[in-house]
Amino acid sequence: MVSLTTIRTHNASLKTLSPGLVAVFVGGTSGIGLSTAREFVRNTNSPHIYLIGRNQTEASRIIDELHELNPSSQLSFIKSDISLLKSVDEVCKEIKEKESKVNLLFLTAGYLTFKGRDETTEGLDRKFSLHYYARMRFIQGLSPLLAAAANDSNPSANLSRAVSVLDPHLGTRWTPNFEDLSLKRTFSLKNCATHGSVMNNLALEEMAKAHPGTSFVHAYPSGVATGLMRAQGPVLNGVWKAASLLMKPFLVPIGESGERHLFAATAPRFAPKSKAEGVQDLEKGSDGVKGSGSYWLNWDGEVLGESKKMVDTRTDDAGKKIWEHTEEVFRKICEEGGRY
Ligand SMILES: NC(=O)c1ccc[n+]([C@@H]2O[C@H](COP(=O)([O-])OP(=O)(O)OC[C@H]3O[C@@H](n4cnc5c(N)ncnc54)[C@H](OP(=O)(O)O)[C@@H]3O)[C@@H](O)[C@H]2O)c1
Repeated sequence: MVSLTTIRTHNASLKTLSPGLVAVFVGGTSGIGLSTAREFVRNTNSPHIYLIGRNQTEASRIIDELHELNPSSQLSFIKSDISLLKSVDEVCKEIKEKESKVNLLFLTAGYLTFKGRDETTEGLDRKFSLHYYARMRFIQGLSPLLAAAANDSNPSANLSRAVSVLDPHLGTRWTPNFEDLSLKRTFSLKNCATHGSVMNNLALEEMAKAHPGTSFVHAYPSGVATGLMRAQGPVLNGVWKAASLLMKPFLVPIGESGERHLFAATAPRFAPKSKAEGVQDLEKGSDGVKGSGSYWLNWDGEVLGESKKMVDTRTDDAGKKIWEHTEEVFRKICEEGGRY
């Protein structure tokens, strides 16, 4: 376990970085995204923060709170339902018009549901879209800005990282159905969880190969009491809140979760491939190679090791197949304006 002392010492050191780091929190209006944004604002100089979500009232309250925490910060809210990939493109366009670089893309938008497949007008399951397709579309759309951050000649300003918070474990235990990656025909809650996990795992590895100046992290938060069940209505949300109280000793406190995720989002040990050489405490990447630029993290900051199941899944170019499928989905929906 990476100790909280190590994490706090590192996070406090971010004050020595150049002012004006740009961070985009997709899902920054609640839970782990908000808690990490709060730590980013607390620990950096004059950051530019973008919060993406749907809740304008909550966003306005958060912007006031974060501005009070660090009056040098510039805070913006972009209201958008990003379960639609076309909305993701609009958000990316707006950020590109305002910024020339992005140092951190932090992806947490999602929710917990016991409902079955719920198709968006673009033909994807809503939750699956939030947990995978929309996240990858953000990475693709903002990759020129992440590359611009990576290419900054000032080492105090060249942080370039994308973090997806979901669950890398499931992908190391279960194999996806390559015949139906979008789960059009074989949707179940278990399949959706498995595909979300393994597709984040392997697509981020592909991203690390394609963008060696940026590092990619898939992080498991463990249990954290957040608004995750809000979409389920007042009854189930109430049950979740009561259960969270009972389970409190076993949950990661929300403030600690933010501190730990800020570490995952900024610590040099999770270096991009092109900048790994000479880094102290450099971690093993998800492919087992030190400093390969893609890292799967447990809640405590430790990297996950390889599993037998994952070795099997990797055979036959699994990562390439997943990325080709993802590009096909993007082409049909975003370029041809159709449904998948
Ligand atoms: N909390 C846990 O114990 C836990 C455990 C394992 C994995 N996770 C995963 O971690 C991630 C973050 O969870 P959390 O606990 O921080 O959840 P949360 O408190 O419910 O926050 C989710 C965020 O996603 C945004 N969001 C949801 N649907 C959206 C949409 N259609 N368009 C735009 N934004 C949307 C919400 O913003 P608006 O309400 O403003 O739209 C909110 O900011 C999720 O993917 C979750 O599955 C959580």
